[in-house]
Amino acid sequence: MADDLNDVTDDDEVSESSEALIAVHWRDEGYYPPPPEFVAQANASDPAIREQFTEDKFPDSFIAYADLLDWYKRWDTVLDTSNAPFWKWFVGGELNASYNCVDRHLADKANKAALIWVPEPESEAHQAITYRELYVRVNEFAAVLKDLGLKAGDRITFHMPMVPELPVAMLAAARLGIVHSQVFAGFSGTAAGHRIADSGSTVLVTIDGYYRSGELLDHKVKADEAVEAAAKEGQHVDKVLVFRRYPGQYSAKTPMVEGRDVFVDDLLAAHKAELVEPVHLQATDPLFLMYTSGTTGRPKGCQHSVGGYLSYVAGTTKYYQDVHPDDTYWCLADIGWITGHSYIVYGPLALGTTSVIYEGTPNYPDAARPWRIAVQLGVNIFHTSPTSIRMLRKVGPDEPAKYDYHFKHMTTVGEPIEPEVWKWYYESVGKGEAVIVDTWWQTETGGFLGSTLPGIDPAKPGSCGPAALGILPAILDEDGNEVPAGSGKAGNIVIRNPWPGVFQTIWGQPERFVSTYYAKYNKDPKSTDWHDWPYFAGDGATQAADGYFRILGRVDDVINVAGHRLGTKELESVALTVNEVAEAAAVPVVDDVRGRVVEMYVSLKPGFAPSAEIEAKVRDAIVKDIGKIARPKNIWIVPDMPKTRSGKIMRRVIAATSNFTDTGDITTLANPEIVEKIRHQVQSAKHAKGEVPRELSEAELNEIKSFGAE
Ligand code: WTA
Repeated sequence: MADDLNDVTDDDEVSESSEALIAVHWRDEGYYPPPPEFVAQANASDPAIREQFTEDKFPDSFIAYADLLDWYKRWDTVLDTSNAPFWKWFVGGELNASYNCVDRHLADKANKAALIWVPEPESEAHQAITYRELYVRVNEFAAVLKDLGLKAGDRITFHMPMVPELPVAMLAAARLGIVHSQVFAGFSGTAAGHRIADSGSTVLVTIDGYYRSGELLDHKVKADEAVEAAAKEGQHVDKVLVFRRYPGQYSAKTPMVEGRDVFVDDLLAAHKAELVEPVHLQATDPLFLMYTSGTTGRPKGCQHSVGGYLSYVAGTTKYYQDVHPDDTYWCLADIGWITGHSYIVYGPLALGTTSVIYEGTPNYPDAARPWRIAVQLGVNIFHTSPTSIRMLRKVGPDEPAKYDYHFKHMTTVGEPIEPEVWKWYYESVGKGEAVIVDTWWQTETGGFLGSTLPGIDPAKPGSCGPAALGILPAILDEDGNEVPAGSGKAGNIVIRNPWPGVFQTIWGQPERFVSTYYAKYNKDPKSTDWHDWPYFAGDGATQAADGYFRILGRVDDVINVAGHRLGTKELESVALTVNEVAEAAAVPVVDDVRGRVVEMYVSLKPGFAPSAEIEAKVRDAIVKDIGKIARPKNIWIVPDMPKTRSGKIMRRVIAATSNFTDTGDITTLANPEIVEKIRHQVQSAKHAKGEVPRELSEAELNEIKSFGAE
């Protein structure tokens, strides 16, 4: 996906947006039952499966997921709640994720493709990597890491694009118990540097270059920026391991740094065919960190476990992605996000299927590229985001019909999908033959929380469906009272129980883990009973009478751009690094392709006049510190910000201005007169550029109206 279709971050502190401010948008849609041919082959086709996961069977119900894996030693305790809410799953159990995704398939799938890598240039042939070859490559890279002195519990940062070296590196780290932290390649070097520092990594793994939209990008330059940014925060990087897009030939212009930078192909040559025993890890040991940024500016390293996480992604891949070993499965997400970790690498490989990895943007060189790949590789399971679906629909609505591929199953993930877009996905991309799952979940949750079971439940456009197996959600109001189940009334969705895929903590910030996700509805901080610790997801939702949930979007100050979460505070703190800027406020603007885009308002310190240079400085700072996805659509330099009497910037008033909606009550502002000035300035400029949005839906209106509300 294009970088700007592919970025994220998120946030944290909980705003007080009230349940009344969230409302339902789309009208209720009809049902789409699975075709009989799908049901006949589905991993879950008997509704009785739900009975194995009812509340009275919790937590032992999840043993069924753990049993999909090979364990060196079985656990003593399924769920230990003694240090609530730091849940421990499968305590006493020992296993290795690399062994489960690679070694154990050698017996019967050695010559089957584990990964098929599709380079962006169509002139380059795809590469099929068998389980046997994957085994050899993972072992060799593990030998390299071991040689560097890395061992279980150490952290390593990857800043890698969509090339097969990335899953190889992840599985090599997992083999040794080294905790990997993969940073999305579209993020800037500085963003990678902050994450290196936060995790305390001493080794960075990168590549010289990769293709995006026809261009071979110099990626190595970002490694230099990352090392420098980490050093500013006191973290020294000893080694930068540089893969080469074309082994033996250096594709970047940025010079290698003597003593620090090493070509991986040179290192591998010294470890040909070397084998490294997988380390027997505790189920509760960390497998990886996945960063998502927060309102405070400091990113949150979501820590996922070896045993619980791998069990949960294996189980959900089996039942919700309906993966069978002989399927060819293609998830278009980037491995730099949680979707790629769970549903490109760990879930599919744990089940021994073939997982496709595509290097480039979906519409390169044209809008039919995905469909040609599907024909060429025989893809039968397809997984992507509403943003990509909207984009492919916009640029090539009739393309899928021209290609003879057949999907049995498709996924949408990351943001709410409009019913019209869902229907195009169903009819045009799926040709009316494929089931669709709309999977609701988060970086923090490891795997799906809400989705239809595709061989059992009919899909309903715009709704993710019921809770996933063993997940016990509820919708609560601000005071913690339960909104009656099935009432269609909106509130905050929570998960009442722990599940194996839930993250263990925020790396280095355990208090923030508790305060952001569990404190809101906990009445007794000393309780060790899981019933007292509902997980607060930060999303608004409704539940219809049929039990299906509809996710309405974030209830905190998060801007979901192309399915990825950007924290307002993070954006604003970058804008404030520009010398002339006194105040900054980031708000969402409704966008027909990307869902939301960022708009940034800044006011200047005394003595500075607005100029295009200052705008450019703010824009460049954001792209440099965060990445292209965060690039604001507009930067408005305003004389002052609308503020409350206590001095808080009223983001909802600014958001309304940018979206041409009603600014609501402004009588409580300290400076109400500024609102009209800003409105005139911004809206006349937008009119001039032809940037007036369409009429907004009720949910969109409510999101804007309550954005950052007190
Ligand atoms: C949103 C991505 C509606 C939601 C896996 C959530 C969704 C945030 C859906 C997590 C969906 C995710 N329907 N909204 N199917 N899936 N979201 O951490 O607001 O990048 O909280 O994880 O995306 O984004 P994240």
